[in-house]
Amino acid sequence: MLEEEVLALLRGHGEGHLSGEAMSRTLAVSRAAVWKAVEALRRDGYQITSAPNRGYRLAGGPDRIRAGELAGALAGRTVGRELVCLETVDSTNTEVKRRAAAGAAEGLAVLAEGQTAGRGRRGRSFQSLSGKGLYLSVLLRPAVSLAELSQLTAWTAVAVCRGIQSCCGAEPQIKWTNDILLNGKKLCGVLTELELEAESAAPSHVVVGLGVNVSQTAADFGPELADIATSLELEGFSVRRAELAGQILAALDDLYAAFPAGKADYLSDYRARCATTGREVLLLRGDAQVPAFAEAVDDDFGLVVRCPDGRRETVTSGEVSVRGLMGQYV
Ligand code: BTN
Repeated sequence: MLEEEVLALLRGHGEGHLSGEAMSRTLAVSRAAVWKAVEALRRDGYQITSAPNRGYRLAGGPDRIRAGELAGALAGRTVGRELVCLETVDSTNTEVKRRAAAGAAEGLAVLAEGQTAGRGRRGRSFQSLSGKGLYLSVLLRPAVSLAELSQLTAWTAVAVCRGIQSCCGAEPQIKWTNDILLNGKKLCGVLTELELEAESAAPSHVVVGLGVNVSQTAADFGPELADIATSLELEGFSVRRAELAGQILAALDDLYAAFPAGKADYLSDYRARCATTGREVLLLRGDAQVPAFAEAVDDDFGLVVRCPDGRRETVTSGEVSVRGLMGQYV
């Protein structure tokens, strides 16, 4: 859509002016069409100033998740080469799955201002207040074995931390396997879903979905979540969601380009950010809670724990509750 292209050009031009003529040449449309797009963007709340002989300048605008805001950060990348930005959707993961079933290419990213049925791991729901968080899902079709794919979720945690950090300087940590924490509280959840080919049981595609808490207040979280969840704003980081989305999608694209050969880099960053190791944990097994001490992350992102009887064991899946984090080990 022309509005998105004009917005992308203005955003990419930073503080400078861009003439209507230059935009019309770049986009191969008339100057009148550019003017109409500028007017539409103004109606959407963008402050676009114009000066004679200099052109247009983007002076400010709403924090909206739209393709024109993200295109610059993602030019030439696989992840985000198709961007679908929605006002509301049941779940961005579910939407990507629907589009994958209809043949969408890898790299598709679906983002929404809000979700009506955001999904978390283990069948839980994920609070998805409109305009307050970043809700996005990406379609990947990596040609790797199931064993390698099982590590993608840990890689994703690293990529999301990197994206957040490059956007605002916050230094998130990871609660094994892929909860993203800031100052000991949950900042972001990741839901990775794998689809297998019916005949061969080979991996067909993966949907990586993540929800980052951006501007929620404690009241937004409500009594159930206030002690265990946080947002970037609550921790003192004020970010534009569009900028955050661009940085995270770019980090996911870096991940995809490196996967799986570049494991050493992701593994060392994962270990450095892991908030679970060096702490007492409870392994949640069905209804049972097994106490242990988390010693290390092994070379395949498994959690090495020492049990009270001295036995060592490597945990590769399931829930782990960590003492002193997110109000847990309770
Ligand atoms: C968890 O913490 O249990 C995972 C939460 C994952 C939430 C994200 S929000 C975007 C995407 N769409 C969903 O329905 N879920 C993921």
